[in-house]
Amino acid sequence: MLKILIFLYFISAINTSTFFGHKKYTEFEIGNLNILISVPHGGNLFPDQIPDRTEDGLGNFKGDYNTRPFGEELSTQLHGLFGQKPFMVYNNLHRRKMDPNRNSSVCCSSQTPNLECHAAHFEYHKFISDYAKNMSQVYKYLLIFDIHGQSHKENWTEIGYLLGRNELNKVLVEETSKSSVNSLKESGAFSMEEIIRGNVSFGAFMEREHFRVVPSPSIKRPDQGGYYSGGYITAAHKSQKVNTIQIELTYGLRKSIAVAKLNAAKLAKSIHDFYKFHRFYLNFY
Ligand SMILES: *[C@@H]1O[C@H](CO)[C@@H](O)[C@H](O)[C@H]1NC(C)=O
Ligand SMILES: *[C@@H]1O[C@H](CO)[C@@H](O)[C@H](O)[C@H]1NC(C)=O
Ligand SMILES: *[C@@H]1O[C@H](CO)[C@@H](O)[C@H](O)[C@H]1NC(C)=O
Ligand SMILES: *[C@@H]1O[C@H](CO)[C@@H](O)[C@H](O)[C@H]1NC(C)=O
Ligand SMILES: [Zn+2]
Repeated sequence: MLKILIFLYFISAINTSTFFGHKKYTEFEIGNLNILISVPHGGNLFPDQIPDRTEDGLGNFKGDYNTRPFGEELSTQLHGLFGQKPFMVYNNLHRRKMDPNRNSSVCCSSQTPNLECHAAHFEYHKFISDYAKNMSQVYKYLLIFDIHGQSHKENWTEIGYLLGRNELNKVLVEETSKSSVNSLKESGAFSMEEIIRGNVSFGAFMEREHFRVVPSPSIKRPDQGGYYSGGYITAAHKSQKVNTIQIELTYGLRKSIAVAKLNAAKLAKSIHDFYKFHRFYLNFY
C-alpha cells in the first residue's frame, strides 16, 4: 500500500506540460505514463530558410496525411483509458524540410547544410531519449509507438518490428534478437512467433478492435504486398528496456479528421489492452 502511494505521488509529481523546440519546429508533451507517441510526418511548415531535401536515397518526401490529428486524439484517448498521459512528440516541419525518421546524415538537405534543420532533428530525438532515461527509473519496461501513414493497395495497416519481409514470410519467425520488441521477448515467456503474430502480439490486440493488420493472427505475412518494416526512429530507440513499434496506418483509417479520430480511439484501446496483458505497469515502487 505504501509503495503504491509513493508511486502515485512520484507519478503526480512529474509535471505534464507542452513545450516547443527551436522556432516551434518541434513540439513536445511531457507525460506521466511509460508510453511515448511519435508523429514525425504530420508537419506542414515550409520555412524558406530551410532548404528542401532532394537527395533522400529512399526518395520519399510526402507527409503522412492526418497523422497529426490522429496523434492528438490518440493522446486524449490514452489519457482517458489510463488516467495518465502519454509523452508526445510532433515534427511540425514538413518532411520535405526535415525527416526525423532518417539518421542525422540524411535528415536534412545534405547539399546545403542548415543548422536550424539539424537542431530540430536533434531536439526530436533528444526528447525521446530523455523520455527513455526518465521513465526507465520508474518503470521496468517502456513503449514507443511511431505513427505513420501509407496507401498501399492492400489497405492494411503495417506494424514494423525491424523484421523484414523475408523474415516475416517464413513459416515461423526465427528466435532473433534483432526485433524492436526484443525487450518484451527477453522479459516474457513467449516465442518470437507468438510476440510478432500470435494471439499475444500487438497485431492480435489491433484485430480485436477490427483493424485489418499485418503481421497478425489473420494476416501472418506480407508476402509480396506493400510492407514497411520500421525506420530510423524504431531502430534508434530500441533498447534492453524500450520496445519500439512502427505503425503505418492505411489511408482509409485517416481519410478525414473525423474518421482519424474514431480510429485513434480504437487504437488507444488496442494499446491499453496490450499494455495490461504484458504488464507494462510494472514499476520500481
Ligand atoms: C544514414 O542513412 C543513409 C540512408 O538510409 C545510409 O546510407 C547511411 O549509411 C546512414 N548513415 C549512418 C551514419 O548510419
Ligand atoms: C527528464 O527529466 C529532466 C529532469 O527532471 C527534465 O528536465 C526533462 O524535462 C525530462 N524530460 C522528459 C522527456 O521527460
Ligand atoms: C482498398 O480500398 C479501396 C477503396 O476503398 C477499394 O477500392 C479496394 O478494393 C480495396 N482493396 C482491397 C484489397 O481491399
Ligand atoms: C492464446 O492462445 C492460447 C492457446 O490457444 C490460450 O491459452 C491463451 O489464453 C490465448 N491468449 C489470449 C490473450 O487470447
Ligand atoms: Zn511516415
